[in-house]
Amino acid sequence: MREKAERFGISIPKKLLDRFDNYIKGRGYSNRSEAIRDLMREYLVAIEWEGSGEVVGSLTLVYDHEVRGVADKLTHLQHEYPGNIVSSMHIHLDERNCMELLVIRGSAKDVQKIADSLISSRGVKQGKLAASTIGKNIP
Ligand code: NI
Repeated sequence: MREKAERFGISIPKKLLDRFDNYIKGRGYSNRSEAIRDLMREYLVAIEWEGSGEVVGSLTLVYDHEVRGVADKLTHLQHEYPGNIVSSMHIHLDERNCMELLVIRGSAKDVQKIADSLISSRGVKQGKLAASTIGKNIP
């Protein structure tokens, strides 16, 4: 069932609105309403990450598999935080470089801690955590 929508008017400085319109046009939004709804959801997700509830994040790591570190740490963390690392995918990029994609679920504090621990491992060339939501409290 489609949720009932409320309409409201807001006043925004012209320059700010122009820049916003320009930005959303380049992002493929067909109208302001959808762009504003997405911004509000982003804001709510950011708030979730400041709280103690459950969140989910995806961590992307690119590392040199010849350097001992990441693989060992990954195994170690999966034992230390059972249930938090819910899925992983490994891609062999070339003869030395690997990409690991991890889905990590739990409190924001735990997810960040697990991600930081992996990102700071020896051999990691790049690590990026995308903060996401389990969706339950985001309309
Ligand atoms: Ni590999």
